[in-house]
Amino acid sequence: MIPDKISKAFNDQIQHEFYSAYLYLSMAAWFETEGLEGMGRYMRVQAMEEMTHAMKFFDHILERGAEPELLAIKKPQVKWDSPLAAFENALAHEEFISGKINDLMTLSIAENDHASRTMLQWFVDEQVEEEDTASKSVYNVKMIGDGGQGLLMLDREFGSRVFKIPLSPEFGNPAG
Ligand code: FEO
Repeated sequence: MIPDKISKAFNDQIQHEFYSAYLYLSMAAWFETEGLEGMGRYMRVQAMEEMTHAMKFFDHILERGAEPELLAIKKPQVKWDSPLAAFENALAHEEFISGKINDLMTLSIAENDHASRTMLQWFVDEQVEEEDTASKSVYNVKMIGDGGQGLLMLDREFGSRVFKIPLSPEFGNPAG
């Protein structure tokens, strides 16, 4: 059985992960209305990945005999001043999420909950990758600047990102 404190904190994290999906989907909508389809696609893929993160917490709570509680998700920002501002927002958001994952790890150690600790290790590693990817995106957009042909070329590159369906059922893959 999952300790109450952990299950409650995981419910909060489900909310954070779905909010992340909302934020990135909102960025996708903004990019696409700005004519940057590649960056829009990139953010759509990011949003789908965030949903798999939420499902990992959802499934973990269920597997350990408790019931996940879905909390309200607030409306995300809908406009950004520039592509750079959006990518900087994404990086700041990933840093915020890393802080949340670290707090969860600290809690699982304090509660002596090794099952949670093992599950959370995946997220600790994932956040290193998430921050690295987001900061490289910020760097690339900064290098190009906010307008012109360079931005369109970079947009095409962002558009090559594809969503890989996670193979493990614990990632919320119904076919897994
Ligand atoms: Fe689920 Fe991008 O952190």
